[in-house]
Amino acid sequence: DRRKPVLAIESSCDETAVAIIDADGTLLANQVSTQIDFHARFGGVVPEIASRKHVEVIVGVVDAALEEAAEALGLEGGALSPKELAAVGVTQGPGLVGALVVGVAFAKGFAYAAGKPLICVNHLEGHLYANLLTTPDLKPPFIFTLVSGGHTMLVHVRAWGDYEVLGETLDDAVGEAFDKVAKALGLGYPGGPIISRLAEDGNPKAIDFPRALNRKGDYRFSLSGLKTAVMLYIEQENKAGRPIHLPDLAASFEAAVFDVQYKKARNALRETGAKEYCIGGGVAANPHLRDMMVRKLSRQGIRVTVPPQNACTDNAAMIAVVAREKFLKGEFSDFSIDADPNMTL
Ligand code: KG4
Ligand code: ZN
Repeated sequence: DRRKPVLAIESSCDETAVAIIDADGTLLANQVSTQIDFHARFGGVVPEIASRKHVEVIVGVVDAALEEAAEALGLEGGALSPKELAAVGVTQGPGLVGALVVGVAFAKGFAYAAGKPLICVNHLEGHLYANLLTTPDLKPPFIFTLVSGGHTMLVHVRAWGDYEVLGETLDDAVGEAFDKVAKALGLGYPGGPIISRLAEDGNPKAIDFPRALNRKGDYRFSLSGLKTAVMLYIEQENKAGRPIHLPDLAASFEAAVFDVQYKKARNALRETGAKEYCIGGGVAANPHLRDMMVRKLSRQGIRVTVPPQNACTDNAAMIAVVAREKFLKGEFSDFSIDADPNMTL
């Protein structure tokens, strides 16, 4: 079975995703069914809706992935048979418990029926391994920044599976801050892509927002002060009857967030002596963050890797990459495992 492809399922939040990766690490299928439209009117993800939507679509998304893989392989018959898989991977956590349960329960049944091993994957490790899609020769030790809707972490990856978390956020995650600022401006959900588009035409120096915990050697993050500063700025401008220049606000907010990300990453690289850097999570889809890290760190002799833009926000391709590595090492999971909403790195 070592030459057979691995199928992986991701359902930790509001995306139902299934990917199939072959033995060489090539993606044969990469299906994502997003629920964003169902949550947008509530301004955020509603856990109960997320669980129900996963139940509704998961069979169809798996079928679509098996069909996509058959086409990629030039097979007759329309769909890859589950018998032709090596293993079934699934996100075990962290995430919304009701959402995770749908993926885990489905994966168990599907793997059992096909007689294939089950492989549990940590979603955060998925965001890290997404970098292997662009840079297969990425090798520890390196520094990794995880910036998603639920997590903000600076990590020293000493070896694969050996993670030293240098710092985390004390309050909001970076993606969460983007979402909250966009919500305060009435711009919609999710806020990251909206703010990032606005920022393209803005001046990042227009408004001087605070940079928190900006001392050397401190790898912790805090976003709530910045969020409050943005709220106060909006209030103050409204009171004064001045129209808010959204692109300037967006660009200045991004600059405040990304300056801190850059400085802490640079300091961690210097302190550990690591020569490689990579990034992951939904916010890593942001072109300004990607460009800044590549530009500034490359100048200092650091090789910078970013995942493909569509493998930053939640997807199953990154889960498949981890599942394939675990399959090759024979790291299988027991069928008695449960979803673990509080998993960490
Ligand atoms: O990794 P992800 O899909 O889900 C979690 O695991 O949390 O991250 C979602 C987060 C959301 O907060 C979203 O606003 C943010 O990623 N995001 C962005 C961009 N695209 C998505 N933030 C900034 N710029 C973007 N282009
Ligand atoms: Zn994620």
